[in-house]
Amino acid sequence: MNHCILGIETSCDETAASVYTTEEGVLSNEIFSQIALHTPFGGVVPEIASRSHLEKIAPIVASALDKAQKTLDDITAIAVTSTPGLPGSLLVGLSFAKGLGWASHKKLIGINHLEGHIFSACIENSIPFPFICITASGGHTALYLVHDYGNYTLLGQTLDDAAGEAFDKIAKLLNFPYPGGPVIEKLAQAAAFEDYFRYPRPLPHSLNFSFSGLKTAVLYDLVKQGAYDLTHKLFLRNDDITFKQQVASSLLVCVADCFEQKLSLVFKEHAIQAVAFVGGVACNNYIKKRLEAFCSQNQKKFFSPSPAYCTDNGAMIAFVGHYKAQQEMWSDYTLDIAS
Ligand code: KG4
Ligand code: ZN
Repeated sequence: MNHCILGIETSCDETAASVYTTEEGVLSNEIFSQIALHTPFGGVVPEIASRSHLEKIAPIVASALDKAQKTLDDITAIAVTSTPGLPGSLLVGLSFAKGLGWASHKKLIGINHLEGHIFSACIENSIPFPFICITASGGHTALYLVHDYGNYTLLGQTLDDAAGEAFDKIAKLLNFPYPGGPVIEKLAQAAAFEDYFRYPRPLPHSLNFSFSGLKTAVLYDLVKQGAYDLTHKLFLRNDDITFKQQVASSLLVCVADCFEQKLSLVFKEHAIQAVAFVGGVACNNYIKKRLEAFCSQNQKKFFSPSPAYCTDNGAMIAFVGHYKAQQEMWSDYTLDIAS
């Protein structure tokens, strides 16, 4: 059966909505990013996030319908992120979806945000199953074996911080604003993606990651090099751009090595033909190129979504909602959030 799905995503600091149809795919993908609101605080402030979602949710949904040239009458079901995420943020999206859906007699589909990220890789590409998916963002970093739509197994995940979180925290150590990932990439490019300081690659024989350990290793290396005062929490080489570029470059090479190391272990254990790299960190061109080259050496296909589908977005929620609608996997209106 043909469907026209309205997807709503508010799990963290992006208010997003999208319309996806069986015949035409993604018709709109609207987003309000709260980054500017959180930058002064060096990270996402949950209370600010939920208040901003409250202000933006109605206009963003209206804009997604407008851009898609659809009205509420055309929508066959509303898909909304219900887990995991910041409770206050999730509540705004889910309550809005329920209110709108109840009043207009629509089916409701609760979506797992991580399932959204995993299948964001399939919006633009037809990827042969089973494939390996690396999801890496500010809130999560994990490795999945993806068997089919909606059917996936967790192979490994971070034991502490997410990869994006490591970029954000280390950028903060170097006095750069949130989010750190794009800044680190720019600095690293200027240092030619060379590995100056050889930071440790944690858990080399496991499919799990540890990025908190990496952040600590970078911090102690800065202290050792006389670049950081631990007592006063002060970075001491703020005017030394070359040094900052070298730190960023070494960090990026290290993180790319960590991902490559996991793939190398996975390739020995699982007969797969393809790898997908998704989430906010997949906006990083250096890591993308490294993984693409590694996959090519190992005769695997490599896929990564366009940046608009890497960071949190409504299209990935509408896309997952669409295949769930085709399987008639509706949620009950008693659906609640789970953080
Ligand atoms: O997926 P996303 O928008 O939100 C979460 O679900 O967390 O990811 C945001 C994360 C941030 O930690 C940010 O620093 C990182 O993605 N990021 C990057 C780049 N662009 C964003 N990390 C590395 N390189 C980038 N170019
Ligand atoms: Zn996310």
